[in-house]
Amino acid sequence: MLRRAIRSYGGTFARAIGSAGGAYGGIPKETADVVVIGAGVVGIAVARELALRGREVLVVEAASTFGTGTSSRNSEVIHAGIYYPPKSLKASLCVKGRKLLYKYCCERGIPHRQTGKIIVATSFAEIPKLEHLLRSGKENGIEDLRLMEGFQAMQMEPELQCVKALLSPSSGIVDSHSFMLSLVGEAENSRTTFSYNTTVIGGHIEDSFLHLHIYESKGLQNGTNDAQLLPQFVLIPRLVINAAGLCAVPLAKRFHGINQGILPIAYYARGCYFTLSKTKTPFSHLIYPLPEDGGLGVHVTLDLIGIVKFGPDVEWIDGVDDISCFTNR
Ligand SMILES: Cc1cc2nc3c(=O)[nH]c(=O)nc-3n(C[C@H](O)[C@H](O)[C@H](O)COP(=O)(O)OP(=O)(O)OC[C@H]3O[C@@H](n4cnc5c(N)ncnc54)[C@H](O)[C@@H]3O)c2cc1C
Ligand SMILES: *[C@@H]1O[C@H](CO)[C@@H](O)[C@H](O)[C@H]1NC(C)=O
Ligand SMILES: *[C@@H]1O[C@H](CO)[C@@H](O)[C@H](O)[C@H]1NC(C)=O
Repeated sequence: MLRRAIRSYGGTFARAIGSAGGAYGGIPKETADVVVIGAGVVGIAVARELALRGREVLVVEAASTFGTGTSSRNSEVIHAGIYYPPKSLKASLCVKGRKLLYKYCCERGIPHRQTGKIIVATSFAEIPKLEHLLRSGKENGIEDLRLMEGFQAMQMEPELQCVKALLSPSSGIVDSHSFMLSLVGEAENSRTTFSYNTTVIGGHIEDSFLHLHIYESKGLQNGTNDAQLLPQFVLIPRLVINAAGLCAVPLAKRFHGINQGILPIAYYARGCYFTLSKTKTPFSHLIYPLPEDGGLGVHVTLDLIGIVKFGPDVEWIDGVDDISCFTNR
């Protein structure tokens, strides 16, 4: 199955390489132009963009379809770009990305709604922090932010209690699955191949290329814990995009021969959302507290069919050991 998917990707760049001896000598190898590891929203979007620019892209995804990781377990909020430090790359990309995302959704009929969002101060002590957010938001180029008195916010949202609030009219929500489905379709129309149930278990540098070690996911399911696991297949791309989400750093640690010093340290937290079991939604805006350590704070999220959730909470955890990262699924 794996080899068939990769073969069908075939194309101008892929060619079988004879066994060359060495540690991975007997293992089948194939070259490729671009390999994207992970079909979350980031991997899919990168694959689509590269394909539209004429690259030949193979997306390798451990799960049985796209978007089953963090990309389908989030608040589905289109962020305005308020929180990031002014002049940071995140700030400028979030503001630019928000405009592009609304445009993309409008042009393709992807379900979304510009609900607006209210960040609240629930005590007088919190007001300076709210004013700080207003300043950094404005510096980030968000022109429509507005500070409101508590009573004004409570008129807009009768179930709310607060002393002051910041209104962000350009925040909204999006159906993340429809969004990803659209990106996948466009990528496939531009000759991108998706190989699901296919896991990258590591890699090594040889002749200045990163050789990716590939294993069928189903062979890894029984809690395989063998760090020396030999690949079933080796892929040699010209360009590798590691978009493996939470596994990106542990995976990069398994790329022997790359400069490990450049890898960021990953800190892991677990969060839960709590669904409100009420048929009528009490709020029409997204409602957030002031941000806290490790997240944006437990907030009110709305989805497009009117379900209200509170979350996520933040519980710091030790993290994942590298191999179970891609086998515990
Ligand atoms: C609680 C929470 C709420 C959030 N809310 C929002 C929000 O409201 N708005 C917003 O814009 N962002 C939000 N985010 C952030 C957003 O969800 C993430 O930035 C985004 O989904 C990350 O996408 P990704 O493609 O990098 O990762 P993922 O979606 O995790 O995709 C990674 C993929 O790689 C695959 N993979 C992993 N290892 C391997 C391997 N070795 N071989 C092959 N495949 C592999 C995985 O199976 C997975 O499909 C939130 C995040 C969290 C945690
Ligand atoms: C992936 O694996 C699942 C479960 O083993 C299977 O149902 C599905 O058909 C596979 N998908 C592909 C594209 O091979
Ligand atoms: C995993 O374990 C189950 C049950 O023990 C077994 O039937 C299956 O063949 C195993 N799969 C692999 C790939 O080893």
